Amino acid sequence: MEKIFLKSDINLKYENYPFEGLKKSLKILPDDVVKKIKKSTLKGRGGAGFPTGLKWEFSNKIDSDIKIVICNGDEGEPGTFKDRYLMENMPFKVIEGILICGYATKSRYGYIYIRGEYDLAIKKIKRTIEKMYKNNLIGNNILGSNFSFDLKVIRGAGAYVCGDETSLINSIEGKRGISRIKPPLPINKGLYDKPTVVNNVETLCTCAEIMKYENDIFLEMGTSNSRGTKLVSVSGDIYESGVYEVEFGKNTINDIIKMCGGIIGKEIGMIIPGGIATECLIKEELNTLYTYEDLEKIGSSIGSGGMIIINNEKNIFEILKNVSDFFKNETCGTCFPCREGNKNINIILENSIKNNTISKEKIEIISEIKQAIGLASRCGFGQSSVNLILSILNKKVKNHEYQH
Ligand code: NAI
Repeated sequence: MEKIFLKSDINLKYENYPFEGLKKSLKILPDDVVKKIKKSTLKGRGGAGFPTGLKWEFSNKIDSDIKIVICNGDEGEPGTFKDRYLMENMPFKVIEGILICGYATKSRYGYIYIRGEYDLAIKKIKRTIEKMYKNNLIGNNILGSNFSFDLKVIRGAGAYVCGDETSLINSIEGKRGISRIKPPLPINKGLYDKPTVVNNVETLCTCAEIMKYENDIFLEMGTSNSRGTKLVSVSGDIYESGVYEVEFGKNTINDIIKMCGGIIGKEIGMIIPGGIATECLIKEELNTLYTYEDLEKIGSSIGSGGMIIINNEKNIFEILKNVSDFFKNETCGTCFPCREGNKNINIILENSIKNNTISKEKIEIISEIKQAIGLASRCGFGQSSVNLILSILNKKVKNHEYQH
């Protein structure tokens, strides 16, 4: 069932929001905030799942005249709209999380980079920032403390690849939105070459919530490898699309589908669990528990939490082509295996729509292209661009489980 943790303040207005997480953080040392987040074992909610506390600890230890926090609200992953939900409904909690991160990592400046299409989110975040400046919650000596922090909103311009932290940094600097080679990691050399911590919107909101409680409430939820709850944005062939808060380890994929009013159509075709960078699940895998470890066991992942449910009445080749169109159009083109590989996969899939079939040899070619892109592209975009396509081909098409 739905476990309310992150959404607990959903009905509050700014005027009634107590900023308890921030106030409690300011009463302790930055190092102790880091310790608490590290102890929570929170994994980054943008998609990669890197331990947040560890990232903050590295950053906290870096000595620099200027350090920067960036909140990544670019949310371009298809089927993912949980950060939009947070920014529209709880802008104060998003900003509270950014401030806590700033305090913990001893950073002085912050940016929140919001997807260009998210008009309402941009408006709400901007209004909340104005109010918080007026109430001494942002700016100099926040709430009478020694902590000062300025925050600015940046509007994205519609490129998926700018969700990658290094492309996003280039975009803020006014450069073309293409990724940088890592290392150096942004925590060492990020925006304007200054140490920069980049965290996703949901991650920062979760930190604000964790800091609100004296006890380690986060450790009481979920499993030992997947603590807490996760916002899952569910869409596709289900009756009630929306953003659901799911406690790790308490629900199977099937339970989540039931939460959303069940499937439209006769039977499940497949589930894309966490955005189109993640491998698909099939009906035999519906009883998999929703945790990082259980999804990993069956070769998939939590990803961004953008779950797409697809019934078995859809033309599988059209789905494949649709996914491929996205990657072909959104590649920044810098690494040629990603640019050319995705183009070639698109041509193969275009022909498979025409013929309503695909040969084993072509699937093998796609598999080789995936390996080449994975080895030779510099960012997560290329590395994960063929995951879903190949998993659908292996799990569904090879077994002839598709519509003729
Ligand atoms: P990554 O694994 O390279 O890095 C994840 C984060 O951990 C980054 O902030 C990185 O700087 C940090 N990190 C990695 N190693 C570190 C170390 N040794 N020390 C300190 N920090 C370290 O993954 P990447 O490429 O940043 O993200 C890929 C993920 O993004 C994919 O899983 C995909 O699902 C997701 N994604 C999400 C989107 C969304 O809309 N939410 C859009 C596109 C992709």
